[in-house]
Parts: sequence; structure tokens; C-alpha cells
Amino acid sequence: MPAWTPDSWRSKPIQQAPVYPDLAALGDVERQLAGFPPLVFAGEARKLKRTLAKVSVGEGFLLQGGDCAESFAEHSADNIRDFFRVFLQMAVVLTFGAALPVVKVGRVAGQFAKPRTNPTEMFEGVELPIYRGDIINDSAYSLAARTPDPTRQLEAYRQSAATLNLLRAFAWGGYANLANAHRWMLGFVNDSPQSGRYQELADRITETLGFMRAIGLDAEEHQELSRTDFYTSHEALLLGYEQSMTRVDSTSGDHYATSGHMIWIGDRTRQFDHAHVEYCRGVKNPLGLKCGPSLKTDDLLRLIDILNPSNEAGRLTLIARFGSEKAGDGLPALVRAVKKEGRSVVWSCDPMHGNTISAGGFKTRPFDRIMSEIRTFFAVHQAEGTYAGGVHLEMTGKNVTECTGGARAISEGDLSSRYHTFCDPRLNAEQAIEVAFLIAELLKAERGQALAREEAAE
Ligand code: PEP
Ligand code: CO
Repeated sequence: MPAWTPDSWRSKPIQQAPVYPDLAALGDVERQLAGFPPLVFAGEARKLKRTLAKVSVGEGFLLQGGDCAESFAEHSADNIRDFFRVFLQMAVVLTFGAALPVVKVGRVAGQFAKPRTNPTEMFEGVELPIYRGDIINDSAYSLAARTPDPTRQLEAYRQSAATLNLLRAFAWGGYANLANAHRWMLGFVNDSPQSGRYQELADRITETLGFMRAIGLDAEEHQELSRTDFYTSHEALLLGYEQSMTRVDSTSGDHYATSGHMIWIGDRTRQFDHAHVEYCRGVKNPLGLKCGPSLKTDDLLRLIDILNPSNEAGRLTLIARFGSEKAGDGLPALVRAVKKEGRSVVWSCDPMHGNTISAGGFKTRPFDRIMSEIRTFFAVHQAEGTYAGGVHLEMTGKNVTECTGGARAISEGDLSSRYHTFCDPRLNAEQAIEVAFLIAELLKAERGQALAREEAAE
């Protein structure tokens, strides 16, 4: 492999790169960012990698999720709290339901850049550059708004720092105390179809904590009860920004992306000889790689060689995003090849990006298709004797109407009532929790089968 440097991606072909009209202004912003403090520390990224290494051998489950695209306009404490709360609720459903540690990774505090199918779009007879996420341009329909503006990267950095700061406070400052499981419920729609189920779970947790306290294990001494590790992630799409946020870790001498704990490569930018793969191979963070229906087995193995040449456990999470109809045909070959070649990976399922359809002028995702892809994902791993290690969701803590279906049976006609996304349709809080209950059941079944296999082998 030729030498890697934080800017070696610049000599490679690149997909999805915005065209900045003012290169001097871009250079100025990148220099400023390079002098700013890192958002995350190398030691945290290493801890996440160690935790993911456990997931890779079936000793944990990765819950990754958040907005398709964060927005500058929606940056508020309430939104961050609502997101964090639903994330904790889901994690509790999974941890308690499946008796497994849950690794919590938000698509948050940096998820601003979006890959797009077309570089431009027509609006009232005028061709405009496409909206590429708030870190690049503005979604309003005018040439001025759509022209990439490098100073937006400074705002993305500021917003990421503020979001991360609040998330750290929530995770470590008492909000995430398991004893608050009941309190997280407050504000969660009381007449929700899931609230009975959730109430029951919260009662069981309270009972368990009471029992633990009675035998001398309480939150004061056992911090794992009163706080939690919460990590951030985003697609490493805007490479100038990523390069500017790359730092050398003083303890190891290695390079880390300090824009977030985990970064991933999107399905449109995973060409093995192109810029995005080049940048990601050189930083030591845990990496995600989106695997869609066009990914050939040989290309996947080649990408694994490049991104994880030493076969380090926890380094690489393969995020399958086939669509409910294609997963059963496409996924087994990839899973089998990775297993046969002895590559250590976490397999995660993104049931969102292959299941987007248009209905009544809206992009939506039917809840049943999302569930169906998750079931198929588990079934494939069951059949191949591998581990279904995680899920990657687009979700929000708000009560939006963007995905159809779910216990409340959101119809296509309901979509217009609270369709707020700036990009792809997200699960709302209730739908996200419903997905968590389903996964908890699948995980329980998976563990039951694994135990039965072990017993049979003895
Ligand atoms: C995304 O995760 O928002 C995304 C664009 O996914 P993919 O690269 O899998 O299409
Ligand atoms: Co998306």
C-alpha cells in the first residue's frame, strides 16, 4: 500500500464532492478548523473499538441511529434531549429484553453532509445545484442558497461541539441513570400503543434495581447504573472537513478522525481506489461501510483488506442496506464470503435506505418493510451461523409522520401532517421503540438457538 497522509485522498478520483466557487475562502476555513480543538478523543474511539470487538463475537449489540441529516435550524436542547431519551428507551428495551450490553452510537453531532443521486435539480424552469446537507449549502430554492459556502463548516463544527457537550452531560450527569427509566417515559405520548408494554418494562427495571439495592449494589458505587457511554458517528463524506479535523494521537502516534467517534463510508462512495476509502483507511477510528445490492463479494473482500488489513476486531462494521426484497438474495453471499475468509467484522442492518418509496408526493418508508428487512437480516445470520450484531436506523425523538405504518398505522394520507425531515423519512419515537421491541425478541431467539447449539455440541 502506498503511504497514507491525511490529504492523500486529494490525488484520487472522488464522488459526491461539492464544487466551491471560492477556493481561497475554503482554504481559510480548513485552516481554521485544523487549529480547533478535537471534538472527540482518540482514547474514546479506541474504547468504542474495543466494545465493538465484543459485538463482533456476539457479546453485545450495536444500536446506531439518528437523523438522516442534522439541520442548523433544528439545533435545540429539546431536540437533543428528545432524541437521547428515545435512544435510551430503545437501549433499555434491548438490554433488558435481550440480556445483552448495548453499544450506543448516535448518528449525531456531525451528521450534516448528504450524498445525492443527482448533482442538480430543476425548480420553476431553473437548474439549481442539489442540496447536499447544511454543512455544504442551504435547502432553499435559490442559486445563492444552493451555492456551497465553506463558512457553513464552521457552523457545523460549532453545532457538533454544542450537541456533543449536551449529550456528554446527559450520559454522565445523571439523566441516563437507570433509576430514571420511569421518568424517560414522561413526555412519551401516554396513549401510545406501546406505552403499556413500556410501562411494564420500566416496572420490571425498578423492581430489579430495588433488588440490587437490597443486596448492596447501588448506583452510587456502581456507575454503570447511573451513567452510560454514548458515542457519535456520521458519514465521512466531506473530506476537506474530515482532513481538517484529523489529529495525531499523542499516546500512539496514530491519526484519528476527531470529528466523531465512528465514521462510515456511504454506499455511493465506497469505490476501493477512490478518495473516501483512501481517507478512511488511514485513521484508526472504528469504521462503518455501507453494503448495498451493487456490492460484489470480491469488492467487499478487497475493501476489507484495505480498511482492516490487520483484521482487527471492532475496526469494521458492515452495514447491510439491501431493501426488504433484495436482502434475502443479496446478503447471504457476502456474509458467507466474509466468514469463509475469516474476517472479523460486526454485521449491522440498515433497514432504512433500501426501503424508500414515494407516496402522495412524499418520500416514505413503510414500517412493515423495515421490519421485514430486519427479520431477513436475522434469518440470514441464523442460517449462515454468523451473528446479527447491530442495527442502523434513521429516527427522531419527535412525533413526526414520515414513515407509514407501525402500531398507530400512519397512512399515506397522514404523511403531510408532520413531515419535517430535511432528507430521508425517519422513524418517529413510537415507531423506533416498536422496532426495539421486535429486535429484542429476535435477539432473545438468536441467543436461545445459540445456547441450544452449544448444549447439543457438549
Ligand atoms: C445514509 O445513511 O444517510 C445514506 C445516504 O446511506 P447509504 O450510503 O447507505 O445510501
Ligand atoms: Co438517509
